[in-house]
Amino acid sequence: MKKVLINDVTIAYERRGKGTSLVLIHGFPLDHTSWDEVASLLENEFDLILPDLRGFGKSTTTENPYQISDMADDLAGLLDHLGIEKTLIAGHSMGGYVALAFAKKYPDRVSGMGLVSSQAAGDPPERKEGRYKTAAEVAEKGVGVVAGAMTPKLSADIRVQGFVRGVIEQQSKPAIIGALKAMAEREDLTSFIPTFNAPLLLVHGDVDALIPIERSREIWVLLPSVRLVELKGAGHMPMMEFAIETAEALKILK
Ligand code: MLT
Repeated sequence: MKKVLINDVTIAYERRGKGTSLVLIHGFPLDHTSWDEVASLLENEFDLILPDLRGFGKSTTTENPYQISDMADDLAGLLDHLGIEKTLIAGHSMGGYVALAFAKKYPDRVSGMGLVSSQAAGDPPERKEGRYKTAAEVAEKGVGVVAGAMTPKLSADIRVQGFVRGVIEQQSKPAIIGALKAMAEREDLTSFIPTFNAPLLLVHGDVDALIPIERSREIWVLLPSVRLVELKGAGHMPMMEFAIETAEALKILK
């Protein structure tokens, strides 16, 4: 992986393929490898940029608290480094929160956006509280707490479960704690959706146990041009559970 220093953190990224640029942003608490299968299906048509968000994978983090919008700034810095002014972006779950924050802050840099198993809404109070509780547990007991609790919720598919558990166990405590707090404090961007004036694509599994498909349906009704691809039988990891369908859906943005 290549690495670049941005905003005091080292951001690791992979770049592969040729064509229209498309940034694929991973979710929590994973890294860019969650997009591997989709990337193989898209690399003949897209110049793919696959970052590890701050703290995750091979990227470093800071001890200071940070926001989802800081992750969006990291992305802007990475695009500056690569000389890419405007691009398609797609984010999975927390990666979707980063994509939305990026689109809000840098509207002229987004030519289209995909939100996979994500949402625009912020956290209700009990969810927010739960994240702080989990962060305290991770600080005390380690990342195994999150690996054990999240793996069955990410997917019912044993193959996918094996993969995500392995990836989660490799992540660091500061990355998981920092991201949990950033997600808890993220802005509700529902009111931003009707102002978004580039193509918007939603991909969501109908058996997603982490973010219900209703969150995508709520976005869909806000803007007539939004495309919603509902994947029957997919959980929270459609890019692995239904890689072909997810890749085909992302091609709509081109
Ligand atoms: C993710 O998959 O990125 C997270 O589950 C999102 C969240 O917890 O809100």
